[in-house]
Amino acid sequence: MTKFLVDTTENLSPGSLKNITAGGKEILVVNVNGNFYAINNICNHAGAELHEGTILKDKELVCPWHSAKWNVETGELIWFPQKLKNQETYQIVVENNNIYVEI
Ligand code: FES
Repeated sequence: MTKFLVDTTENLSPGSLKNITAGGKEILVVNVNGNFYAINNICNHAGAELHEGTILKDKELVCPWHSAKWNVETGELIWFPQKLKNQETYQIVVENNNIYVEI
């Protein structure tokens, strides 16, 4: 596992979404009520970039193209008319107010 710096906790306030490229992967980091989560930024349906979507309460991320809903903690599909693979998720580590993603 390698740790990649995402940002500081001050810069990623609750409700924020931030996309980064790390370890050859496109990753979305979100702050939901003070907890940080990392999920694959490319929607498994048709490739939308999820950082352009909306984060709702209860860790729900809505895709900007066709409104699939994903759980940002588990990567599980919450809602869509057809079955989709779960999104990959990643471990977040917070140290000294710095947010890292482990890949
Ligand atoms: S690209 Fe995300 S729901 Fe279609």
